Amino acid sequence: MANVLDMVTLYGVSLWKYHGSLVFTSFLLLVAGMFMARYRPGRWWLRAHRALGAAGVAFGLLGVTAAAYMVESSTGEHLAVPHAYLGTLVVVLLLVTPSLGLAQFRFRSRAARIRPLHRWSGRTTLALMAANILAGLTLLSQILK
Ligand code: HEM
Ligand code: HEM
Repeated sequence: MANVLDMVTLYGVSLWKYHGSLVFTSFLLLVAGMFMARYRPGRWWLRAHRALGAAGVAFGLLGVTAAAYMVESSTGEHLAVPHAYLGTLVVVLLLVTPSLGLAQFRFRSRAARIRPLHRWSGRTTLALMAANILAGLTLLSQILK
């Protein structure tokens, strides 16, 4: 029976490797960004936090696009496993978190209320990404078995 790892390659490299590398890079960039906000190593922390956040979101979205393409060109059954649902929730959070970050500056009078939402949304994004990386690796080991 076809599975997502069979035959789905780009320039001779299996698509799951693009998917895994892109989302893992995204996670590392976002963790680095979180450290900027948490420890504020210089006056430039917010610029670094924003840039790392934007780069992390870009890598994350590209990585999930690679996953959707991989599933589309193999089984065609999207959202077939818990990993895929959690991944979709991560996509939503990857859009909501930076929006809340920007909203602190756009709606200054409500910044104090938005700030904890952004912080918790950011922490939740990172925790769910870590969990889904583990779920992805588990899935991979099951498929490769
Ligand atoms: C934050 C990290 C991750 C996110 C957000 C994510 C997201 C997703 C999403 C949304 C899908 C479903 C695509 C669809 O149904 O069209 C998917 C599928 C998949 N992902 Fe990930 N993923 C992550 C990490 C990983 C890692 C680290 C691996 C392993 C290297 C992995 C392996 C897979 C595999 C094998 C599938 C195909 C599942 C199937 O049988 O349908 N993922 N991922
Ligand atoms: C997906 C991208 C982003 C993630 C994952 C993220 C995550 C976080 C996290 C986890 C914190 C709390 C750090 C801590 O104290 O433990 C934080 C703080 C902060 N973030 Fe973001 N962020 C992102 C994008 C942005 C953007 C685009 C902006 C604004 C332009 C922004 C502005 C801020 C500010 C001002 C704080 C400090 C809030 C405070 O005073 O405690 N963030 N972010």
